[in-house]
Amino acid sequence: MSETTVIPIRDDRAKSAWIDEKGYFELYERSVKDPEGFWAEHGKRIDWIKPYTKVKDVSFDKKDLHIKWFHDGTLNVAANCIDRHLAKRRDQVAIIWEGDDPNEQKNITYGELHEQVCRFANVLKAQGVQKGDRVTIYMPMIPEAAYAMLACARIGAVHSVVFGGFSPDALAGRIEDCDSTVLVTADEGLRGGRKVPLKANADEALKKCPKVTSVVVVKRTGGAVGWQDGRDIWYHEAASKVSADCPPAEMNAEDPLFILYTSGSTGKPKGVLHSGGGYLVYTSMTHQYVFDYHDGDIYWCTADVGWVTGHSYIVYGPLANGATTLMFEGVPNYPDGSRFWQVCDKHKVNIFYTAPTAIRALMRDGEGPVKKTKRDSLRLLGSVGEPINPEAWLWYYRVVGDEKSPIVDTWWQTETGGILISPLPGATPLKPGSATRPFFGVKPELVDNDGKKLEGATEGNLCIADSWPGQMRTVYGDHQRFFDTYFATFPGKYFTGDGARRDEDGYYWITGRVDDVINVSGHRMGTAEVESALVAHAKVAEAAVVGYPHDIKGQGIYAYVTLTAGEEPTEALRKELVQWVRKEIGPIASPDLIQWAPGLPKTRSGKIMRRILRKIAANEYEALGDTSTLADPGVVDDLIENRMNRP
Ligand code: WT7
Repeated sequence: MSETTVIPIRDDRAKSAWIDEKGYFELYERSVKDPEGFWAEHGKRIDWIKPYTKVKDVSFDKKDLHIKWFHDGTLNVAANCIDRHLAKRRDQVAIIWEGDDPNEQKNITYGELHEQVCRFANVLKAQGVQKGDRVTIYMPMIPEAAYAMLACARIGAVHSVVFGGFSPDALAGRIEDCDSTVLVTADEGLRGGRKVPLKANADEALKKCPKVTSVVVVKRTGGAVGWQDGRDIWYHEAASKVSADCPPAEMNAEDPLFILYTSGSTGKPKGVLHSGGGYLVYTSMTHQYVFDYHDGDIYWCTADVGWVTGHSYIVYGPLANGATTLMFEGVPNYPDGSRFWQVCDKHKVNIFYTAPTAIRALMRDGEGPVKKTKRDSLRLLGSVGEPINPEAWLWYYRVVGDEKSPIVDTWWQTETGGILISPLPGATPLKPGSATRPFFGVKPELVDNDGKKLEGATEGNLCIADSWPGQMRTVYGDHQRFFDTYFATFPGKYFTGDGARRDEDGYYWITGRVDDVINVSGHRMGTAEVESALVAHAKVAEAAVVGYPHDIKGQGIYAYVTLTAGEEPTEALRKELVQWVRKEIGPIASPDLIQWAPGLPKTRSGKIMRRILRKIAANEYEALGDTSTLADPGVVDDLIENRMNRP
């Protein structure tokens, strides 16, 4: 093994796990040598109404880009997540809901989930929702968010979940892009003891969305809300009027299941579209093997259902496996910094999956809040969303896991639907900071900037050479953009936008985005989005946004702003611009640092040299490289002189 720290596979784990080391290599070989045969077999892990006879039909070619899996099969995703478990698990808990307030909790059995989802589906139907229609869901972390998603799946509607932290403008843009006429929301959310005005935000957004004819409102806090008669309905009133039975619709494997908006390096967020069949096969299979999920385990993923992690590993993957999945409304440090571990003890959580940013934030408060709790039910820890630095990895392993639980560092993306690179706990020796090896059927390749495939231990752009069933199918409404974003840079391969290193043992180390996307606390932001929010302010003439290393968030947002002539750069204006971006996009996009820039470093053709801006933001101004192509090299001195990120 090449790296200094290697944590061997535990014998007890190798024995009890689904896959051991030898098994991994055998199955992986088979999966990439004979993908059709491999997936023909594993596609059977879910229930099909009409079984597939075709397995894979894929082309990454410019002229004929298409991705189809199991495409003559039919199924219903919600029936796979609920109905098929009823015979055995009617009284087993499907969802443990833990409220923001530690005294609030609910257990929802599979039997209850069935009734709730059927009712929700009938409420949507009563609002005129039909197969193929898009329903936008803007919800807090309450069970109704999952009911709404599964209700859409049950009737063949396509959900678009918008994270509850997004602003009215961001919500409006996403509603408009997918033409949805029905919105599901709640009166207010509750996070860390604070209320989130979801209905008020929705009302604001809907001023721009005249096509929305129904707003279904779930009562969470009972706080006062505005009301538009004829458009707004209370969910609990509507639900009491409909039947508790709703037959699942028969859907083709390739019918769309959901749209989820995600940021890219250019333009507005893209509607990533996933279809049902391949996605469910892939998410349920990765959930089983990566988390080594066994019947009876209590599984907790701390993500929000507004992100893909919540879709794949709170709702669809675990429920397809008949698991007990925990859904947490709150935040890691409320009422205090022991909360995560208190919840683990209270519900006897076996598998715990969170983001590096949470670990780093908790690490700052030391071992005390962790060590106050037992955590003796934990068997496996997971990490997702951004590279985890070895220091945070080791703290997670040692302090949280008491060196007993392997950590699975899972690399994937909204676009990939499920985990592509990750250790398997019974099969993979661990190296802190490495996502290790590809999952079955996944063929990572590293290529140089000219697209040349690199062999052996090396570093390059991370591509995936062939399709897997969970892959996104298109950008909603813009198939050309799908091609341009993912398949144009390195023809014939899916380009992830990430860079990676492969070591002598074939382990992958994700180095981060190589495009203009930044990752702030595991949330993806396009620098272009923040820039366009800034320049929409009357006092801003020009803005350039880059990421910079941030101890807790992974990356922070650094904005260089040129004011319009005559405007004074004041502290008040700086605060105003931060508030402005929060309002335009949401709190997750708030710039951490704003530097007043009388000029930006541009080439003679007017292109901003971001490389230089990134260096200055990282406080690495001594290694700027070649600046001779700049139209006015003088601007750089001013930027260095007034840089904001000083230790
Ligand atoms: C980007 C995708 C995957 C669900 C949550 C984020 C980064 C994600 C890891 C990891 C290093 C990671 C990548 C990727 N990323 N997981 N384990 N190690 N980097 O989904 O919002 O689509 O973001 O997150 O840069 O491209 P997303």
